[in-house]
Amino acid sequence: MAVVFRNRRLRVIVISLAVIVILYLLIYTKLPDGGRAKKDVEYTDTHQGKHKSTGPITKENLPERVTVIIREFEDFDNAITDSVEELERTLKHVKVLVISDDVPYPPVQLNPKGSARIVTLAGNLLDNHTSCCPLHQVDTDFVFVVPDNVKIRDWTFIKSAAAFLRSRRNTKAVAVPVSDSKLECFNMTVDYKRWTLSFPRQDAGSALSECQLIKGSHGLFLETETLRSLTEPLSRPFPFTYYVQARVKNWKTRVMKSGRLEVIRPLYTDPHSSWKRKRAITDRTKAFYRSVGIKREVLPTGASLYYGCDKDKPRCFGTVLKDMPQFLYQGRWTPPCCLRALRETANHVFRALEACGARYWLEGGSLLGAARHGDIIPWDYDVDVGMYKADIPKCSSLVKAQAEPFTDAQDFVWEKASEGDFFRVQYSEVNRLHVDIFPFYSKGGVMTKDSWFPTHRQDTEFPESFLTPLSVVEFAGVNASAPNNVKKFLEYKFGQGVVENPRYPNYQRPV
Ligand SMILES: *[C@@H]1O[C@H](CO)[C@@H](O)[C@H](O)[C@H]1NC(C)=O
Ligand SMILES: *[C@@H]1O[C@H](CO)[C@@H](O)[C@H](O)[C@H]1NC(C)=O
Ligand SMILES: *[C@@H]1O[C@H](CO)[C@@H](O)[C@H](O)[C@H]1NC(C)=O
Repeated sequence: MAVVFRNRRLRVIVISLAVIVILYLLIYTKLPDGGRAKKDVEYTDTHQGKHKSTGPITKENLPERVTVIIREFEDFDNAITDSVEELERTLKHVKVLVISDDVPYPPVQLNPKGSARIVTLAGNLLDNHTSCCPLHQVDTDFVFVVPDNVKIRDWTFIKSAAAFLRSRRNTKAVAVPVSDSKLECFNMTVDYKRWTLSFPRQDAGSALSECQLIKGSHGLFLETETLRSLTEPLSRPFPFTYYVQARVKNWKTRVMKSGRLEVIRPLYTDPHSSWKRKRAITDRTKAFYRSVGIKREVLPTGASLYYGCDKDKPRCFGTVLKDMPQFLYQGRWTPPCCLRALRETANHVFRALEACGARYWLEGGSLLGAARHGDIIPWDYDVDVGMYKADIPKCSSLVKAQAEPFTDAQDFVWEKASEGDFFRVQYSEVNRLHVDIFPFYSKGGVMTKDSWFPTHRQDTEFPESFLTPLSVVEFAGVNASAPNNVKKFLEYKFGQGVVENPRYPNYQRPV
């Protein structure tokens, strides 16, 4: 914006004022205390406007500073009543919140005169919306999430844990071991885009104090704000769910050397309850993965566990519109379980076409993926194959599919596509991940077909010479048939430099 001052004196005054303001801002923000002072103001503001003491925690002010939360327990075997009694005895008037998915059954008896309450997360027609989120009712600046069968003999470590957390930026929680359980520190990575949680191979017994994931029984001491800033602060199994969410934010946890929690009595001692407990943890882990979108675990051995995309479940993304599948709008790529199912379907199709002697080749995006890195492009959602139309009669699966859809011995479904003159092989009847097979025929040395996708620029005729002879490329873990001179073929279809310059999917760019 250009402002012209006719009056010279006015111009001098305005410029001087501007210089003063700029200098003031520079000096103010450079003050060593500037940032921190501001943070404290923010801090008190977020606590519903109430003033929170930031001084040390003492035995007297403990009930105003810390809420003890018991989240991880089983209805069928717990020591909550004893734990709460112990807590109320040692830490007089401390607030204790027992957070349960549903009304505990058999019922948990608490001293009606005590400060402990049971909060149930399951919706209830008689409740209002406030009751959904018990953390909003916590009015202390710290929470201590403990297992359900512990007592705190010596509380003084809480004081140093609180001071420690206030002095750190990225260490947001302190782990307090239970009895003599040895806490182990692990690394972990969360790849949001690829829906993947990895546990890298690491040195056994590495004694680190700042951890990304801690195994072994322990309580977690942290600022209430830390828990509140997670999307699923109370998901189970706790604290595993905490570590996954903290990892995304790059927060670490310090293992406390001084403090200890003591076991009241061992739980799950008989084989049946131990089995029930283990199964419950597995089920809850899966539910948590589903809810935050983790579909693959990479174990320290390098092996993977996949979640979702089974043959008996629908594909985990809906019908693809305008070539932009739903997951791209979430900032994610194709779910790993879907890529795996696509590879399996592609391999099945290659073997079937080879078995009947059909001349086929990888097409479009699939061939591009093969040329770039020998696999499906990480955000692609189907596999495209071309074949000679004249070879259809040789393949009974295709001949049958021409009449009506049919399911083969391995549960893949072969059908004539409704969208045009091509075949579709689906992962299963329920799971519609698929490989498309496009029949081409030669017309005067040019490969052509009868139906086209007007929006796909790569869907074009091409010289038959690319297919005489066919070549072999690695794709999805196997060798697949491809045109000769793959790079030239791809550039013919997509344009110059397409192999070297991936175009990342961008749903904001018009297709
Ligand atoms: C919601 O329920 C709680 C507990 O029963 C009650 O204290 C609170 O006033 C209710 N809030 C509203 C908006 O109804
Ligand atoms: C975790 O990874 C860091 C490097 O990112 C490494 O220094 C550290 O030793 C690893 N921790 C463990 C327990 O392996
Ligand atoms: C593909 O074929 C080549 C050459 O025959 C072979 O060396 C390679 O191991 C094969 N790759 C796969 C994945 O089977």
